[in-house]
Amino acid sequence: NEKVPFKPRYEVPDVLIKEPVCLSCLHLGTNFQSLTVLQKDADKLVLTCADEDQQLHVTANPFQIQFVCKGEIVWSTNSNGLLYFEHLQPAPQSRKSTSQEEKEGSANSSKQENQDDLGLWEEKFGKFSDIKANGPSSIGLDFSLHGFEHVYGIPQHAETLLLKNTSDGDVYRLYNLDVFGYKVHSKMGIYGAVPLLLAHKPGRTAGIFWLNSSETLVEIATKAAMEVLSSRTPETSKQRVLPQTDVRWMSESGIIDTFILMGPQPFDIFKQYAELTGTQALPPLFSLGYHQCRWNYEDEDDVEGVDAGFDMHDIPYDVIWLDIEHTDGKRYFTWNKEKFGNPERMQKQILMKKKRKLVVILDPHIKVDPLYTIYSQAKERGYFVKDRKGKDFEGICWPGLSSYLDFTNPEVREWYADQFAFSAYKGSSEILFAWNDMNEPSVFRGVELTMQKDAVHYGKWEHREVHNLYGFYQQMATAEGLIRRSGGLERPFVLTRSFFAGSQKYGAVWTGDNKAKWQYLKISVPMLLTISMAGISFCGADVGGFIGNPEPELLVRWYQAGALQPFFRGHANMNTKRREPWLFGEENTRIIRNAIKERYSLLPYLYALFYRAHKVAEPVMRPVWVEFPKELETFGIEDEYMLGNALLVYPVTEPKVTAVNVFLPGPQEIWYDFRKFIRLEGHGTVKIPVTLNSIPVMQRGGTVIPLKTSVGKSTELMVDVPYELRVALDTKESAVGELYLDDGHSFQYLHEKKFLLRKFTFHKNVFSSRCADENGQFHTKCVVEQILILGIKKQPSSVTASIHDGKDQAVAFTYDAKISVLTLQKLSLNVGIDWVLHIK
Ligand code: GLC
Repeated sequence: NEKVPFKPRYEVPDVLIKEPVCLSCLHLGTNFQSLTVLQKDADKLVLTCADEDQQLHVTANPFQIQFVCKGEIVWSTNSNGLLYFEHLQPAPQSRKSTSQEEKEGSANSSKQENQDDLGLWEEKFGKFSDIKANGPSSIGLDFSLHGFEHVYGIPQHAETLLLKNTSDGDVYRLYNLDVFGYKVHSKMGIYGAVPLLLAHKPGRTAGIFWLNSSETLVEIATKAAMEVLSSRTPETSKQRVLPQTDVRWMSESGIIDTFILMGPQPFDIFKQYAELTGTQALPPLFSLGYHQCRWNYEDEDDVEGVDAGFDMHDIPYDVIWLDIEHTDGKRYFTWNKEKFGNPERMQKQILMKKKRKLVVILDPHIKVDPLYTIYSQAKERGYFVKDRKGKDFEGICWPGLSSYLDFTNPEVREWYADQFAFSAYKGSSEILFAWNDMNEPSVFRGVELTMQKDAVHYGKWEHREVHNLYGFYQQMATAEGLIRRSGGLERPFVLTRSFFAGSQKYGAVWTGDNKAKWQYLKISVPMLLTISMAGISFCGADVGGFIGNPEPELLVRWYQAGALQPFFRGHANMNTKRREPWLFGEENTRIIRNAIKERYSLLPYLYALFYRAHKVAEPVMRPVWVEFPKELETFGIEDEYMLGNALLVYPVTEPKVTAVNVFLPGPQEIWYDFRKFIRLEGHGTVKIPVTLNSIPVMQRGGTVIPLKTSVGKSTELMVDVPYELRVALDTKESAVGELYLDDGHSFQYLHEKKFLLRKFTFHKNVFSSRCADENGQFHTKCVVEQILILGIKKQPSSVTASIHDGKDQAVAFTYDAKISVLTLQKLSLNVGIDWVLHIK
């Protein structure tokens, strides 16, 4: 910050979950948190922590910080001298008179003299003028990442996984905007922003978190840099050429508040970032099922028909969604009386019976209508964002003229949360969950379709300061509302379109208004990977593509991809043809059904992954390089990804494909076809034939995946379905895996430790299930019924099960020598207790 700012500058609140601790030191196994001075000259300071191999070199003139590890510079800051800080200043004379005249209503407000000064205080965008209450206030800083040429992160852009060079002037913009049908391969800002950048090279991953919520630009320049390796005598000093990536951050306002994440492994970065901003909220289990959305499901009959359609076509699903038309004239928290005259009945009689849920949309704009209680109350209490003249900001959105709730105000969030009380929200029930849309915020006919930067929020902060936080705060208040209405007992589900660093704590995000085109399916993979690496595991793209009508093949491929991504929702724009999964002929219906059913059978695996995301910040969906950080060939892979550490998924993103080139990473790894159980030959790029039936999914040797043996109509109806364990052996004929279990919906896992975390281990022909967290206890009758062991070389003569406190029992098995698969059947091993299987 400025030492003595002329006025306070905005410091992003509510994103950091606590004051940070020094994780690099924790990583070294010490709790040493302060730095010691190793060397101190007039111009230079060398600092170190417990490990003297890690040093910070701070020079005063020019100001620069270098992080040196074992004699090598890893990163440095201000090495390009781009530290920039526009000090706040008093308004120039002419500006003062401008505001004076404005108050007095004078039309002739601008004076020719001092126009230059004024230029910094006032900008024009078409017919809009942005009058900056505090004048120019930008900040900026450069970082150099030494030896790094692969950088990732800073979502959200419809761009490649690897960040591109911006030397052509086309820089990455972080500015949340509503961009209908956004362009693919563009660095423009869309709905969400997480100012976290990751850099990776073999042996080290690093991160930079730039905590600023105003409009931010990021420049990336990768170059070959000459590095001098100094030694005692200049003659023996060596030179070498190394790649270097320079990253320059620029924000319109605020302070420089930046965190360097030290890694050194990718998973360390995820943890370090989560130490700052929190981990993914543990989703209620139902929300990992399939979601059926459309703008709009017209009325209660429509909902009933679609719901029945799923059963008729034997397709599981968990949630049906209602878009803006379900309301009374886009007044959120209300119902259109003609179309949804009896929402209680719809929820209780139709959905609850099959343990399904409803999600309704709640946008942040509020229709200007004194007879609408939400509006009149908020108006009376002064809960709307103001314009620069102090009146309620008014803009156009779905309902017409609207004001915007000021979610940055804690009191507004409290009040908003209270609107979810069953007594306040008529027609809502405990199976109704929430969707926050248009919260960039979207303002039709506004500058770039958003709110003017000179609008004024709580604490007199201008909108420019908080812009990228607006949606974050709405989701926070909504999640709080859902928790509160349940008396603090139930986990919420809230989907948001706009997001910021830390949004993972409040629910899920999606990638907004994509198009029903192949290139949007393709780009969804790097987009979701980037969002996932930025801490938000619960993410997805509209399956089928929101805008336009997908050809059946595209729809099928999208279902296949979406079924293996964290948030799985089909959605369509209002002027598209109906596209419920059974409308494209029997064959396509069958394939889509299979994809959705496969997801449902994988729910135990997915839930365990979400538990890990929640506990230890591991992204559910992750780039291949994150699992194979030493393997250079994986660094740029964005057409395939890992779902957890066990599944490699290759979505087909082009039409009429008969074979795909899949990269099988890890020369030491064994990969098995997930459906045929056969071991895939070779590693590196292999050609895999595909039909429309499925997309390639490979299980990694060394892993155990828990599955359900059959699927039901919805996740909750599957609670008692037995498990199958899919054990894939690695070269050492070993495998490990996890299962996480709780009631699937409440906070009891947290407050009362009602959960089970089990660890499965296969080693030397002994397969065991044991408790992986003694703190958890959860009673379940559910059993493991079947175990498949892939890659077992010879037929065993016997298999016995020793169950905790019981007698040994012989286990029935079959062995398929052709594919080396051992199947243990008709088991009845409770998932909650210890047992061991001996394979002889
Ligand atoms: C926005 C959303 C879209 C929604 C529509 C109507 O375009 O991104 O998902 O259906 O608004 O609410």
